[in-house]
Amino acid sequence: MTREGWDAMARWRDERMGEDGDLWHRALIDPTLLDVVGPVQGLRVLDLACGNGYLTRRWAREGAAVSLGVDLSSGSLARARRREAASRTGARFLRRDASDLSGIADRSFDLVVANMALLDIEDASGAVREVARVLDVAGRFVFSVGHPCFDLDDRSAWIVERSRQGDGVFRDQVWRKLRLYREERSVRVPWAISPTEVGYTRSYHRTLSTYSRILRDAGLAVVRIEEPAPTPELVANSPQGPFIAEVPLHLVVEAVALRPAPRRTRPAEPRRRGSRTSARTPRTGARRTGAGDRRAGSGSPRRGSTSGS
Ligand SMILES: C[S@@+](CC[C@H](N)C(=O)[O-])C[C@H]1O[C@@H](n2cnc3c(N)ncnc32)[C@H](O)[C@@H]1O
Repeated sequence: MTREGWDAMARWRDERMGEDGDLWHRALIDPTLLDVVGPVQGLRVLDLACGNGYLTRRWAREGAAVSLGVDLSSGSLARARRREAASRTGARFLRRDASDLSGIADRSFDLVVANMALLDIEDASGAVREVARVLDVAGRFVFSVGHPCFDLDDRSAWIVERSRQGDGVFRDQVWRKLRLYREERSVRVPWAISPTEVGYTRSYHRTLSTYSRILRDAGLAVVRIEEPAPTPELVANSPQGPFIAEVPLHLVVEAVALRPAPRRTRPAEPRRRGSRTSARTPRTGARRTGAGDRRAGSGSPRRGSTSGS
């Protein structure tokens, strides 16, 4: 369903996102995400699970040395390519599962961004391992997700209570309630495409600890966490705007590749005995940490995935 769901909604979503994102992206998530991303001029940028590619194209326009968007959905990629054909920015698009970026070379990117996508990717551990592989040393991974602590699909909600305050006046108070935070699972997400049509995709709730472990196991260190606050545009246009000013529903995370990622393939040339260079090869480093072994399957790639998927 993952791919089919996104394919079926590709046109609707593309029209909604346009070149600047819909209200939620434009007025809530993206201002924080773009602040964390910073200037991209001269960087090699990978937009992981790029959807209609509006950010991929933005970064190409802003002077990224490479701006590549990958996504599982051919429908979304067709829309992205159509936009690119209509007005060229230099962005390129590839169909890939985020957990298998075959054909993309090790350490070929300075920055990988996954905007509101990890929560929709079944094998998040596999995807983050691939992120670490394609990131250059000290490269950055920036991603946004629904806030794992406050946005738990149908297990969280706003409660508005009207009660008499200390000054004797009745006022509304907003509470965020949630349950079963520790239970990781996937849910079917309904999207109201039209008054008569509903599309469905799948989304995966993971705890904060799981996200942290997934990043650590891939060799990425978290250096920044932000909780996007609503802009005046969101407050004016969404009934949830004032609520989100009190409790955040999203998280933006920046992580850095501290060590060379494990190579996908062994280099062909034999190592020279006593060579200082060979003693420092990334593969040697990876073996020391065990990360290379995890890629070979001795770890638990589905730890971040959930029941009911
Ligand atoms: C909520 S959309 C976000 C798209 C885009 N980043 C944005 O902010 O508009 C989630 C995207 O994840 C993609 N996706 C889901 N699972 C994927 C996977 N395993 N590999 C690559 N893309 C995937 C979907 O096709 C969809 O385009």
